[in-house]
Amino acid sequence: MSRRIVIKTDNQIAGIRRSCQLTVQTLDMVAERLKPGITTNTINNWVDAFIRDHGGIPAPLGYRGYPKSVCVSVNDVILHGIPDGRILEVGDILNVDVTSILDGYFGDASRMYCIGSPSSEAKRLIDVTRSALENGIEQVKPGNTIGHIGHAIQRHVENAGYSVVRDYVGHGTGIRFHEPPEVLHFGRKGHGAVLRPGMVFTIEPMVNAGSRACRTLEDRWTVVTVDGSLSAQWEHTVLVTQTDVEVLTA
Ligand code: MF3
Ligand code: CO
Ligand code: CO
Repeated sequence: MSRRIVIKTDNQIAGIRRSCQLTVQTLDMVAERLKPGITTNTINNWVDAFIRDHGGIPAPLGYRGYPKSVCVSVNDVILHGIPDGRILEVGDILNVDVTSILDGYFGDASRMYCIGSPSSEAKRLIDVTRSALENGIEQVKPGNTIGHIGHAIQRHVENAGYSVVRDYVGHGTGIRFHEPPEVLHFGRKGHGAVLRPGMVFTIEPMVNAGSRACRTLEDRWTVVTVDGSLSAQWEHTVLVTQTDVEVLTA
């Protein structure tokens, strides 16, 4: 595995853009169908069928032994929740993380959803996490560094009284699921790789209402908050353009 950051060609970018569009359509489909009483397995079935019906492949299935086609992370689950028979109830908040492969190209994005109306604290956590991602995206332009992105995210989250998860990071993507560079959601301006036109990577901050400490369950995938606090995550795949940024999963 190369540690080189691949600068994508115009052809590759066109393919990644299409894959990202399928990912967006899939996340929109989930939003339309979600309701109390369904299981996280049902979401898995919707996502698997939708991606395949549109000519794609769900990237998570079989990836490093992951058993399902999507990650669904409910309440105190930070990431990599495995769909199962859990029934979604009014007041639950969940992240659905979709990665499509279309014509060999990867598109990776996730959103938060609420079953019924969330508590005001849950809503604030979701909103702060989303604006943290947006602040990170605003730092994407040639000449800035990965550290500019992380710094903007960390400042926003910690000013709101929340913590940034440090054990999991964003990543280059497009040709493979996970490519260099690592995209830290904390740090300092000027640290990390310098951004260049043609780089494609994800930004996917995970924010805990309490401590940033993580624990992996016996299933070896599901990651939860140690203190039981709620966690939120939003993810986009972005392209560094000649002038700034294109959000491929907008
Ligand atoms: N989509 C996740 C990410 O944002 C990766 C999930 S890995 C899986 O990087 F195996 F759980 F699917
Ligand atoms: Co990702
Ligand atoms: Co993802």
